[in-house]
Amino acid sequence: MTAPIFRFKGRAIPFRPGESVAAALDAAGVTSLGHDALGQANRYFCGIGACQNCVALIDGVVRETCLTPATPGMIVVPMEDAGG
Ligand code: FES
Repeated sequence: MTAPIFRFKGRAIPFRPGESVAAALDAAGVTSLGHDALGQANRYFCGIGACQNCVALIDGVVRETCLTPATPGMIVVPMEDAGG
């Protein structure tokens, strides 16, 4: 059986049901979620929604990747690539 996937920067990221976007990215070896407007690295840090360091544009909405369950076909874009 093939694992469901979502996409991060065009890359297919497999995940297990119930896994967060951040956990799936980490398991896939993605440790950087880009950079914020001040040039600081964004990454999976607290895992509980407190630090806001893992935010990304998920299907067009800014969300914490650590609190967002992965779903098949979702598109995850680093904030630095989100434009605006
Ligand atoms: S890792 Fe801290 S809010 Fe997501």
